[in-house]
Amino acid sequence: MKANAERTALLYRIRQLEWDALPLDPGSARRRQLRNAVVASSERFLQEIDSVKAYEEVENPGLGLLDVPIGEDGLAIETALDLLEQEVIRPGAHPASGGHLAYIPGGGLYHSALADFLGAVSNKYPAIFFTGPGPVRMENQILRWVADLVGYPAGAGGNLASGGSLATLTAITTAREAHGLKGADFASTVVYLTSQAHHCVEKALGIAGLGEVQVRRIPIDDRFRMRPEALEQAIAADRAQGLKPWLIVAAAGTTDTGAVDPLDALATIAGRERCWFHVDAAYGGFFLLTEHGRAMLRGIERSDSVILDPHKSLFLPWGSGVVLVRDVRLLAAAHRFTGHYLQDAPSDPGEISPADVSPEMSKPFRALRMWLPLILLGAKPFRAALDEKLLLARYFHQEVQALGFEVGPSPDLTVVTFRWAPRRISLKRANQLNQEILDALRKDGRIYLSSTLLDGRFTLRLVALSFRTHRQTIDLALQLLREQAAALSG
Ligand SMILES: Cc1ncc(COP(=O)(O)O)c(C=O)c1O
Repeated sequence: MKANAERTALLYRIRQLEWDALPLDPGSARRRQLRNAVVASSERFLQEIDSVKAYEEVENPGLGLLDVPIGEDGLAIETALDLLEQEVIRPGAHPASGGHLAYIPGGGLYHSALADFLGAVSNKYPAIFFTGPGPVRMENQILRWVADLVGYPAGAGGNLASGGSLATLTAITTAREAHGLKGADFASTVVYLTSQAHHCVEKALGIAGLGEVQVRRIPIDDRFRMRPEALEQAIAADRAQGLKPWLIVAAAGTTDTGAVDPLDALATIAGRERCWFHVDAAYGGFFLLTEHGRAMLRGIERSDSVILDPHKSLFLPWGSGVVLVRDVRLLAAAHRFTGHYLQDAPSDPGEISPADVSPEMSKPFRALRMWLPLILLGAKPFRAALDEKLLLARYFHQEVQALGFEVGPSPDLTVVTFRWAPRRISLKRANQLNQEILDALRKDGRIYLSSTLLDGRFTLRLVALSFRTHRQTIDLALQLLREQAAALSG
């Protein structure tokens, strides 16, 4: 009797909880309402994207979010979207704007946004072939497409990571295992890179437990590229001291200046010295779609590992990085682990599972956001956009010089460095003036530039990479810089 009453109470409670949880699974009318509101918000955003400021300075950006804590009950979608638009989307940089010419600009292809929507709705599992055969085949198909672009052989493989930093960590961990490095070796092991290498390389070394390795900064030439003969000398000096040269990291497009290291010459040295040759093509990688890029990056196909960021030069939204390793077996050897609860999944299903070749297990369905735009549009518009950016950078380099700015080398890719440095002013004063120019442009907000320090010189950078950056944007940048130069000269 008592058991029966308990059972009834239990079933009643279950029904009540099912009822309370119903909002988690909205019906079609509610879905339409939510979807329409979200699509309307995205349309408000996109219809203004060409006129919106590339950088919006507001007081206390985002602080209004904290006025609306997460409560027991929810808000209306309109209220939530209003909060999102005002507090999150409006303030700060707009990487989706063509006027975003700072750092390494991002993309935000609409097709990828739709793919993310489909990926999240279906929530297919993309990490293990047995449970997610479709997403896994799609990821491997995408990776093969990138491997072909790089020129890697059939035995290559890789992973779609969250970005360049995680991709770099995966490559460095693979290189560590491939050379059998153990703790006792670390202090005598040497890594070679330049002062221009992205800091994610050292970060990855630290995370991979390799903080004790020796890091040699190889001198660069006047175009900020690694000098091969200096690398050879450094390796010879290290060998003479009984150290173990292990890893050479080259850049196919540095962050500061967009310089491409002489990959072919470095690959020859790496081969001769039996070093692992890693190329950071996070920024420059997809310029391989262009003739100029292919010539510039010649030798990349001889590397042992490479990273490329689709959220940079393939215009995807943030959260997409590719790591490729010439011999996928080395990648798997460094990353394949398993657990008892996975006993149902065959260990060798004939298709590489992303979980076996990366630090991640569960992850978003990243392949879909790359596949959908590529399958719908083909490679052609990507190539055209990248060729356009290459020419825009060349154009800006010429024109900004004509305004009286001192310019860096002609761009290898699409980063142009320049500074206001009239003769007879001190370095300190020039640095101050360039900071002032940058601040004034950020306040104006129509275009967004960033800066760096090159040999102690405060240097301005313009990076043409957003698919929404066109001739009109560059002309606006030139007009604003002309006004700044006139104010400073006057
Ligand atoms: C050359 C280069 N490598 C690596 C990275 C790191 O990539 P992510 O920000 O995707 O982690 C960047 C970021 O700008 C970069 O420019």
